[in-house]
Amino acid sequence: MCGIVGYIGNHLAIPITLKCLAALEYRGYDSAGLAYLDSGNMGVVKRVGKLENLNNFLKNKIIPASCAIGHTRWATHGKATVENAHPHTDANSVLSVVHNGIIENYDSIKKELKDKGIKFYSETDTEVFAKLLGYNLFSQNPDFDKYYAMHNSLHSTYKISKKHILKALNTTISQCNGTYAVAVLVKGYDDTIFFAKYKSPLILGKGQDENFLASDTPALLGVVSKFYSLKDGECGYIEKGKIVVCDENLKQTKPIFKKISVKPEQVMLGSFKHFMQKEIEQGAESVINTIDRIKKLGILERIPAQIFEKNFNLHITACGTALHAGMVAKYIIENQLRIPVFLDYASEFRYKEPLINAESICLFISQSGETADTLSCVELAKQKGATTIAFTNVPASRMESMVDYVIPTSAGPEIAVASTKAYLAQLGALYSLVDYIAKIRHITVNFNIDNVRLAALSNAKFNYDETLNEIVELIKNEESIYFVGRGLDYILAMEAALKLKEVSYIHCEALPAGELKHGSLALIKRDCVVIAILTQDDLVEKMLNNIHEINSRGAKVILFSPYADLEKFVSAHVLTPQVDNMLEPFAVMKPLQILAYKTALARNLDPDKPRNLAKSVTVE
Ligand code: AGP
Repeated sequence: MCGIVGYIGNHLAIPITLKCLAALEYRGYDSAGLAYLDSGNMGVVKRVGKLENLNNFLKNKIIPASCAIGHTRWATHGKATVENAHPHTDANSVLSVVHNGIIENYDSIKKELKDKGIKFYSETDTEVFAKLLGYNLFSQNPDFDKYYAMHNSLHSTYKISKKHILKALNTTISQCNGTYAVAVLVKGYDDTIFFAKYKSPLILGKGQDENFLASDTPALLGVVSKFYSLKDGECGYIEKGKIVVCDENLKQTKPIFKKISVKPEQVMLGSFKHFMQKEIEQGAESVINTIDRIKKLGILERIPAQIFEKNFNLHITACGTALHAGMVAKYIIENQLRIPVFLDYASEFRYKEPLINAESICLFISQSGETADTLSCVELAKQKGATTIAFTNVPASRMESMVDYVIPTSAGPEIAVASTKAYLAQLGALYSLVDYIAKIRHITVNFNIDNVRLAALSNAKFNYDETLNEIVELIKNEESIYFVGRGLDYILAMEAALKLKEVSYIHCEALPAGELKHGSLALIKRDCVVIAILTQDDLVEKMLNNIHEINSRGAKVILFSPYADLEKFVSAHVLTPQVDNMLEPFAVMKPLQILAYKTALARNLDPDKPRNLAKSVTVE
């Protein structure tokens, strides 16, 4: 996924565009670039790597442009090179485009344009979009080349109307399959930024004699207070004092701007060194805010009780950490409500002909609400007539607009690519749902939803630094680290393994402890590191057997557990708080998240922006 921004107003556009881009860098950091219009000239500047490279190139340059678009890239088509960096231009550099999404039929369009003599400089689908838009903008005119050259000159008598540009943009969109949020500059239109949106997020920010567009609200914080989340198929343009939004038939619509609920300090580091560190510390309050808001606003009661009274089949679908939250929900629902749960990775769900129908309830979990794999599953579930419920953390996300019911998590903006506080908030929302269904079906569960608050706060008196610093020294140079657990602890081990691998780049694998002897034990050799999670009362004995199995191969076992008397069996023991057994995820996950964070630092890596990843993957 990528981040795009646009600014038009009375101030210097480039510093503002760079500032807005910085707030979106979590969306991708393979390259960054911007285009600007100044006195009829169009400039394009791009650099490979993080945004700071573009900043450094531009910092001593005063470019008096008041209109600019910017892009920070997560590479989908084509390597992270300067040629592939956005913005991309048409054949005669009359227009420039920044794009978030994927043009799936770019290859066939590229062939058609090449047959017309148009040349390409990059491997990207976005350049194809730009070249096609340029072609559509001018090809209606019989003397295409002369016209093109004429428009290129400042004295062009053929002023293309904005309506004509929008029409060409609409035509281009209709020829492309896939997803896009695009911002376009057209030479000669120093006062206008054109846009279009389909399935990739794009919002408009309304200011005082200035207007913005961006992929997400963090880019608008501190600059405007109102935003509008564009709907699929909408296009239009922004000027200093005007915003025009049209539907797919180019009929002007009346966008309703909402107040931005996120506060600037929520997307700033404050006293923390990294967002991952800050967000781990916010885990407890994220859980409590989520549970309290669900209760206070009666969110669950908005879902008709009869949906849960009658028989239904339940499906949980998500990606990555969100799916790991879903696994906890599956475990709790089956264990406590005795209702079978189908659980799938979103990227698998779509292609397996899932057994969903009008009797199905489909739960979708997504921090961003923009993950393409999960969104496609929502579409499929709706086609099959299922009831769709989404757990999302970002307001006004595309997923929110698609489902029947939304159960919001209240973790606040999560900037670090590795999800920590949002994961715990998802658990808070999922336990709230289980508690709600239990009441409807008159089932007594063996956890009290009010104790989730205590479990979330249980780490408050624990300082893990000393123990974890020693453990980091033990593991930081390992090539592979194995996580083991049983039952609920195995599910937590999967999330802990993902956390550590995605920020430290150490190969991590989670294994059911009881499964080791059926093959994976062959991997366990002298001095290799095995991290064991043991929080479930009824599994202590069995897990101890597995720990002895591992010890007898000379491996080092690092235990995360509230049971103090087990440390004699292991190389290191992180004593975690003792809470209700069913609520242990809220207690044991924090030190595991801190371990991942500290290990990334020990390996001189940026925990907030791991290589090759992005905060939300808006492409399949
Ligand atoms: C989690 O640490 C990862 N960054 C990733 O697995 C993430 O959970 C996944 O991409 C799903 O994102 P979503 O919750 O925004 O849908």
